[in-house]
Amino acid sequence: MAVTTRDLASFNSLTVGEQRFFTLKINGTTLVVPRECAHRGGPLDLGLIDQCERTVKCPWHGSTFKLSHFEKRALPTVRNGNMITIVSETAPTLFWTEYLPHLDAENRTSNAPSSNAPRAGDQS
Ligand code: FES
Repeated sequence: MAVTTRDLASFNSLTVGEQRFFTLKINGTTLVVPRECAHRGGPLDLGLIDQCERTVKCPWHGSTFKLSHFEKRALPTVRNGNMITIVSETAPTLFWTEYLPHLDAENRTSNAPSSNAPRAGDQS
């Protein structure tokens, strides 16, 4: 059993053994969930998340999974501020951040610059 603590802002993807995981925010809670689709292993981190319907649609063949599907398969975690502690069979071997459309869209909404912030093309 391995316990690993990381700053949640420092990654959105990780591997534990041979299995890839990604972070998924459900009802304000960040979960660490398996990336592999149950159908044929498609990349669910690239899937279409519908927070209203509470589903994720796999980009390969369109299987749709309820968010509760991910809640049941998430690694055990504990949040303390921006830090997340992950409990797994073996220690995660890699952490990284990659472009994930659903996460990028979420961040654009929550981290939108204030009206006083300089914008691209602004002259000083
Ligand atoms: S691999 Fe996900 S729907 Fe086929």
